[in-house]
Amino acid sequence: MTKPMITHRCKEYKELHHGIVEKIQKALGTDMDVFLVGGSATVMLEAAIRNGAASHTVGMTNGSFGNRSIELAELNGKQVDKVQVPWGKAIKPEDIAGKITKDVEAVHWVSNESSTGVFSDSVALAKEVRAQNPDALTMVDAVTSAFAMDLRIKEMDPDSVVFGTQKALALPPGLAIMLCSERLLEKAKTVPNRGFYGDLLKIKKQADVDYALTTPPVSLMYALDYQLDRILAEGMQARYRRHQEMADLVRDWADRKLAGIFPEEGYRSNSIGVLNRGGLDFDSFNSKLKAKGFEVSNGYGDIKEKTFRIGHMGDTTPAGIRRLLATMDEILEE
Ligand SMILES: Cc1ncc(COP(=O)(O)O)c(C=O)c1O
Repeated sequence: MTKPMITHRCKEYKELHHGIVEKIQKALGTDMDVFLVGGSATVMLEAAIRNGAASHTVGMTNGSFGNRSIELAELNGKQVDKVQVPWGKAIKPEDIAGKITKDVEAVHWVSNESSTGVFSDSVALAKEVRAQNPDALTMVDAVTSAFAMDLRIKEMDPDSVVFGTQKALALPPGLAIMLCSERLLEKAKTVPNRGFYGDLLKIKKQADVDYALTTPPVSLMYALDYQLDRILAEGMQARYRRHQEMADLVRDWADRKLAGIFPEEGYRSNSIGVLNRGGLDFDSFNSKLKAKGFEVSNGYGDIKEKTFRIGHMGDTTPAGIRRLLATMDEILEE
């Protein structure tokens, strides 16, 4: 990231951009278009909905970030049919039975709900959407699952998958990444008022010649390029197994020492552990943990007071998680 700056309209930039796109496609096993846009992930979550539906979507939610995607769609003037699933439960195909009618243009949901630590089966959801309405686009927020858990993109065949640099890619924030389908680009041609910054057709035109539409965070892209090489050297299956191992350690600890994990069995995130506090005085526990140099997180949204969260993704290792859990043991004993 400390390399001297280059202009984003030169050959060296094109090589950097092109290399990143190819490495992301290779890592995620897809030939979908990859768009790189300066901003946090939300900029492309919003772009997907704004470009992919003229008026009517279905928003499935089981937590704060699912609610956010519904808000995004509504603030962009879409009529959103809401499918609300209880917090802690996964969104399942039966939750949308009969709801994806012919007039639904797009269906959006969160793959890994960061407020609850629930990982829904997006492959099953995308298949169910298409079985009911083959023309409905599928839009997946993968902010906390991409590069941590296997999204099985080929099988899912989604229309947009969005994430950012600051989660399982373990980089600073500032770049939004979108996998985009041909279907979404075709649909965008028919949707008015796509704006400028997130207009997928403008972005695609530039991406085809290895450019970003507007000035990208070049320093961060150097870091991303470097990090993608490290990720590919680790191997994606090994990376997913490492995340599974970290999650298992945290789940086991939560079962033995506290009141278990919040999300339902079978749909637990491998990137974020959401632990039930039980009788724990979390504020005092957390300040002691901080004093020993560890950072965990409060609960989020409706379950803020009942839970706390441990992020175990990106460059975090099982050894690091073991050290954290040992320190948590010490504090509990104290
Ligand atoms: C599941 C999920 N979606 C969306 C977001 C928003 O991402 P950003 O802040 O990069 O726009 C987050 C942030 O934590 C998230 O966890």
